[in-house]
Amino acid sequence: MITDTALRLGRFPGSGEEYLFDVNESLMTIARPGRGKSQAMVIRNLLYLKGPAFVLDVKPEIHQATAAWRDAEVGPVIYYNPADIAGSVCFNPLDFVPDDPAGAFRFILNLVALLVVTPNAVKFNDFWESRAAQFLTAAIYDVAMHDPFGRRDMTSVVRWFSPSDEEAEDIIERLADADVQVMRNLSNTMRNMQPKMRENIFETARRHIEPWSYPGLEQLGFRTTFDLTNLRRDNATFYLCVTPEDLVSYATVIRTIIGLIYLHMRTAQDDWVLPPVTFFLDEFPQLGYLREIEKMMETGRQAGLRLWLFAQTMGQIRKIYGGDDEGFSEMVAVRSYMEPTGRLAEELSRELGKIPAGFYGKERPRATPQQLAGPEFVDKVLIIQGGKKFALLNRVMAFSDPGLTDRYPSPKLASP
Ligand SMILES: Nc1ncnc2c1ncn2[C@@H]1O[C@H](COP(=O)(O)OP(=O)(O)O)[C@@H](O)[C@H]1O
Ligand SMILES: [Mg+2]
Repeated sequence: MITDTALRLGRFPGSGEEYLFDVNESLMTIARPGRGKSQAMVIRNLLYLKGPAFVLDVKPEIHQATAAWRDAEVGPVIYYNPADIAGSVCFNPLDFVPDDPAGAFRFILNLVALLVVTPNAVKFNDFWESRAAQFLTAAIYDVAMHDPFGRRDMTSVVRWFSPSDEEAEDIIERLADADVQVMRNLSNTMRNMQPKMRENIFETARRHIEPWSYPGLEQLGFRTTFDLTNLRRDNATFYLCVTPEDLVSYATVIRTIIGLIYLHMRTAQDDWVLPPVTFFLDEFPQLGYLREIEKMMETGRQAGLRLWLFAQTMGQIRKIYGGDDEGFSEMVAVRSYMEPTGRLAEELSRELGKIPAGFYGKERPRATPQQLAGPEFVDKVLIIQGGKKFALLNRVMAFSDPGLTDRYPSPKLASP
């Protein structure tokens, strides 16, 4: 039986049966551009899946192909797109800072780890970066608790890092009166710091969060206009749409939205029995090192969420999550590959291992790198489940899936 929450990865050749994935664990798909990540995996599944979803849409094209059907048949659509201010929902992370000082401080620590884009797990602990992160904590605390610039949002946090002498004095005084010891300590640190040192640290901090004050984002960051806590109960679909050009510069925003949605899910234990939320994260390595991705994979089964990670190469992932991707690959239940070439084909050939060939215990590779990169594997999806079970499926593109002719929108006719 195909349930509402089953994901489809392709069809078995011969029988034509669907390969179904229907557990609360994570998936990963690696393929070069144009192999069908969007068509065969994301769009196709969004046009079948009757459960809540979060979609990082980096073209953006997925929203256009799937939003109408999901809105009509699954649940409300939430659409965030900095390039479409009129149509987009707004998001202000400071709206989620609790009122009590201790709660606010704890929340802000989590928030800072999302805001600061770190290129890899090691860089996370760099001196300048960690100093900057400390002051970012102070800036958000100050803006959230005291609203010194008349806008309790990230533009004020950016503004905080370019203070006049007088404003700097005010900051030091406000932090000296804070209810949280760490803030009082930072007040002292700031008072005793050489101006040049302060300028360097503030500059580092500002660089991380500057995109929040770019035109577009600045307008979308004033307040939050959607319910981040009801995604799952409402069977909603959240589309986060950015162009490939904006993906990297807006990473701080994207990470924060994903992270806060996850933070809520992790704490909303009453909701864990509800259908899982599937996160389709196209191009996720471009978001930098994101601790939450690892946490989501660890707690997914328990909290009922499935991460589906997409990347072009394994190298992209290694660079960010550590030299050895074994750990990362082992965290996902299923990996899928389409038309692998080069180094990836070699690695996969090795992983697929050998099979008996002829007599006298002779062996040959199950598939050579040349075969993997050749015509036999065109239009196919190679599945590795749990690091040991393999399957070779026929790839099914959404636009040519006979089951989706009513759902896949036909291209709009150009107006005369
Ligand atoms: N509506 C469509 N009709 C026909 N071909 C399409 C359509 N949309 C995409 N394609 C083609 O399908 C292939 C897979 O595209 P896509 O899923 O976007 O790749 P990826 O996401 O892996 O970069 C590409 O060759 C693309 O040109
Ligand atoms: Mg794509």
